[in-house]
Amino acid sequence: MTKVAVLGFGTVGSGVVEIISGSSFIDKVGKELSVKAILDIRQFPESPFADIITNDYEKILGDDEIEIVIETMGGIDPAFDFSMRALKAGKSVVTSNKELVAKKGAILMKTARENGVSYLFEASVGGGIPIINPLHNCLAANEINSIMGILNGTTNYILTQMIKKGRSFDEALADAQQKGYAEKNPAADVEGHDTCRKIAILSALAYGKQLDSDAIHTEGITNITLKDVEYAESIDHCIKLIGRSKKIGDKVYAKVSPLMLPKDHPLSGVEDVFNAILVNGSATGDVMFYGRGAGKLPTASAVVADCIDIIKHNKTGAPFWTEGGELTSDSGEDVKYYIRIKNGNQRTENGVSAVFGKVRWIESCAGEAVFVTPPLAQAEMAAGIKKLESLFGRDKILGMIEVLF
Ligand code: HSE
Repeated sequence: MTKVAVLGFGTVGSGVVEIISGSSFIDKVGKELSVKAILDIRQFPESPFADIITNDYEKILGDDEIEIVIETMGGIDPAFDFSMRALKAGKSVVTSNKELVAKKGAILMKTARENGVSYLFEASVGGGIPIINPLHNCLAANEINSIMGILNGTTNYILTQMIKKGRSFDEALADAQQKGYAEKNPAADVEGHDTCRKIAILSALAYGKQLDSDAIHTEGITNITLKDVEYAESIDHCIKLIGRSKKIGDKVYAKVSPLMLPKDHPLSGVEDVFNAILVNGSATGDVMFYGRGAGKLPTASAVVADCIDIIKHNKTGAPFWTEGGELTSDSGEDVKYYIRIKNGNQRTENGVSAVFGKVRWIESCAGEAVFVTPPLAQAEMAAGIKKLESLFGRDKILGMIEVLF
């Protein structure tokens, strides 16, 4: 019997307790798992687990029977301190906490190694989709060239509602909140921070060095309007919030932003709360991972799988990266942009052509000029956009989204 403690009895923590207490692991693992303690500052008198809920972490730390600490608290403080102390006390730690892994993964994994235990985090990216373990083990023979994915279920649900149901951003967000996908304060999802943490984790794992997630260029979907969605549709594209990264020499290009994808792109058909991650390996080429990226039981299933991994593989072979990853803002590739300008008329069109040359005009409603630029080097594109802003005024540019080609 392997005994575990669960820190945080919220959505994921309670899902973990539900799976462990309702399953038998003897055939798969050779022994059973059992939850010995649950840490939470709240009280749950009605819960069938009320008698194992405690608010005293020292009791868990000092309990030699507890071999694995499952951290589903979220945030840095006190999750970092609790995790470090568990590892130093010789307990393995399993987590779903993407913020902590993105910011402190290197030191936590180093501490785990030094103490002969594991720090595993399959549930931190893609919910129930196996991605950390496949990236670390199954694709180990590859150099990973690039990663690109829809990593946030909430924003994908909102964008799908805008595309399929013609709902505005605010209506779609309210619907997502009502369905329990989006939090009351949806900032981390809709402003792209959640996607940023996940691409930071995947990139660190793929390229071997921790990145400063605060320095990754991050845009969310709050400026996307129904008009943008309709214009994209009219040229057979759709708008998705994409986290991507690419190895450039010793550095990493990483970015989170909405992208207009051609309809035949593999990520275009990923709808609702689903996530998908496209990994390009030197030997495999593109490999795609797809599934439910959020939710109580899918995420809890990834947490329990990590526990099983620890029991089966005797705490060895954990993923690892070190500090010191460097970012570059130049992908080395040409970019194209969709741009929407107010006051479309002959003068606007002449101005646009003077800046960008031959553009692809999109049929637009009266009073707007909408187009896709030709492909340009990033620096040239930035200079062109600056010229456009000084020509028409920044407030006249109603929308601007990178177009994948
Ligand atoms: N808020 C996240 C999402 C939860 O919507 O994808 C899973 O990390």
